[in-house]
Amino acid sequence: MNLQYPNGYVFYRNLHYSYPMITHGQGAYIFDKQGKKYLDASGGAAVVNIGHGVKEVAEAIHTQAQKCGYLNGMQFSHHPVEKLAEQISRLLPFDEGKVYFLTSGSEAVEASIKLSRQHWVEKGQITKHLVISRNPSYHGNTLAALSLSAREHYKSIYHLMLSEGPKIPAPYCYRCFWEEEYPTCGLKCAYELEKKILELGKENISAFMTEVIGGASTGASVPPSEYFPIIRNICDKYEILLIADEIMTGAGRTGKWLACHHFDFKPDIIVMGKGLTGGYFPLSASAVKKDIIDVIHRNGNSFLHAQTYSHHPVGCAAGLSTLDYIKKNDLMENCLKMGEGLLTELLSLLSHPHIGDIRGKGLLVGIEFVKEKQEKKPFSRKERYVEHFLSRAMDKGLVLWPNIGHADGMNGDLVLIAPPLIIAQKEIIEIIDKLRGILLEMEKFGIK
Ligand SMILES: Cc1ncc(COP(=O)(O)O)c(C=O)c1O
Repeated sequence: MNLQYPNGYVFYRNLHYSYPMITHGQGAYIFDKQGKKYLDASGGAAVVNIGHGVKEVAEAIHTQAQKCGYLNGMQFSHHPVEKLAEQISRLLPFDEGKVYFLTSGSEAVEASIKLSRQHWVEKGQITKHLVISRNPSYHGNTLAALSLSAREHYKSIYHLMLSEGPKIPAPYCYRCFWEEEYPTCGLKCAYELEKKILELGKENISAFMTEVIGGASTGASVPPSEYFPIIRNICDKYEILLIADEIMTGAGRTGKWLACHHFDFKPDIIVMGKGLTGGYFPLSASAVKKDIIDVIHRNGNSFLHAQTYSHHPVGCAAGLSTLDYIKKNDLMENCLKMGEGLLTELLSLLSHPHIGDIRGKGLLVGIEFVKEKQEKKPFSRKERYVEHFLSRAMDKGLVLWPNIGHADGMNGDLVLIAPPLIIAQKEIIEIIDKLRGILLEMEKFGIK
């Protein structure tokens, strides 16, 4: 039976797609019931950082579930949460940090903006509530996280339910908002934050939310090195908390534990998720500078937020074991080395008439497709370029992550490549060979 709606009982995410039934995964590969092998070149949704089938993590989960599968985060603490928070805080760019655990990225984003608000309220600055974010951007799909995001195709029917916040253009150099070039642009995208703060009044603004290296929204766009130091200065000048969304870029994805380690700045709050457990258990985290929490503590209060599955013992055990695996196997080293090789090989595809740009850091790389290269004109959504690309990739056993809408909110096609950090040179070559094959087929079948 086809694993496709309306067959069976699953309410599938895609109601118009026939799902292969996966039986197991090993390393960078997953295998379906028919024995077909897929190279997981996107690590699922940039989640599978340590590869599939890692016994150590499975055992850590098993052991913790047997010891104690759940504890109420309001009432008890436990070894996995204490130890994981300690290990993560050692990897943070703060002098002293504390870590609050949740399950999904969207939840951690929402918790962080609530924490920012509470921080200012506790300080007596009760009008500070707005969060400025960027366009394009993606911070999650729950209503507040979606309001912060600028991805129109996710939002269009929900606008009436969203509390849309202020946005400034993202440092998306390939599609600069002002159509200028770095460095002659003078980093307008960074200074725009100051303009927005002056327009809205600093007394109304609580935080600035930013991806550090673009994820799905700008397809691994890397900002110029001066961008974040400028942003940091502006946030300090106007007393605004700087929240780095490292849900996709954290846990070694870009070759350092956090993408902000590539730049000369320190955020106030860092949000992580995805690769934190390599996908073995849902876990996200909001890492916070201690003095932000001290203000609440001094007033005799606690963070006004609670979720049933926060500080989960099994999730934290999975996180500990994943972190251990990354360290023991030098996966960040491998990520940097393989990432460099991947980018170099991919750049050889840049001569293709429909590849507009290729960029990224470590093992987070984006390929942006265009209809016309000179003018960076995107394919219209009706042409479904990336969907055709993806279905050919699946046929060839190559898993990529598609994204749409970054060019103007609705149009624009790109794929993200984010393989497990364990990837080897021969698998990089396999990705490139398959991409070449797909590009050739796209032309043969007239999809240009
Ligand atoms: C940068 C970023 N922030 C937030 C999220 C939302 O995370 P989740 O899907 O786990 O809620 C994502 C997910 O792709 C992301 O890439």
